[in-house]
Amino acid sequence: MKPFPLNKAFTFLEPGPVILVSTAGGEYPNIMTLSWTMVLDFSPRFAFMTGPWNYSCQALIKHRECVIAIPTVDMSKTVVSIGACSGAEVNKFEKFKLTPLKAEFVNAPLIKECYANIECRVTDYIKNHGIFVLDAEAAWIDEKRKEKRLFHAIGDGRFIADGEKISHRKIMAAKLPEGV
Ligand SMILES: Cc1cc2nc3c(=O)[nH]c(=O)nc-3n(C[C@H](O)[C@H](O)[C@H](O)COP(=O)(O)O)c2cc1C
Repeated sequence: MKPFPLNKAFTFLEPGPVILVSTAGGEYPNIMTLSWTMVLDFSPRFAFMTGPWNYSCQALIKHRECVIAIPTVDMSKTVVSIGACSGAEVNKFEKFKLTPLKAEFVNAPLIKECYANIECRVTDYIKNHGIFVLDAEAAWIDEKRKEKRLFHAIGDGRFIADGEKISHRKIMAAKLPEGV
């Protein structure tokens, strides 16, 4: 994993892909699958939604940190399977043969097999709605991997893989933050 510019980290979340969230603090590090996410600012600031029915939620509330890992379409079966079991019962890194890598600022691990990883600090928890607000502190990318297409949940058990990229950068020039 190579460092990735923090000011561009939001570009991984902006398209709304299915993500993985790693946490630490239990007997072993854990991973959950999420698709209810949003970008709140270029800073970069993100939010996602989860609740106490998930084991990861306790770790997020207690340790106030996590890693957002960005999987690619070739990982979709594993990613969905990660979201179909609980870290309360199983060590998902072991079960799904994923490699935890030490992060720089948080105790939660990066996931080596993912395209990108974003180290995040929980800055707010809106309990009524299960919304966690996160500030990113570092971002990492595996530029060498061949498959770079992200995938997106429809919500009915089916998914959409990234397709053609269209550039409207000229029209958006005034709206894009510097360096993006
Ligand atoms: C495609 C997909 C998307 C999901 N999105 C969310 C989500 O946005 N929020 C949430 O709380 N759970 C979501 N889940 C469910 C959790 O990933 C699942 O409950 C997981 O097993 C929790 O793991 P844990 O108990 O180890 O924390 C999703 C699952 C899948 C398969």
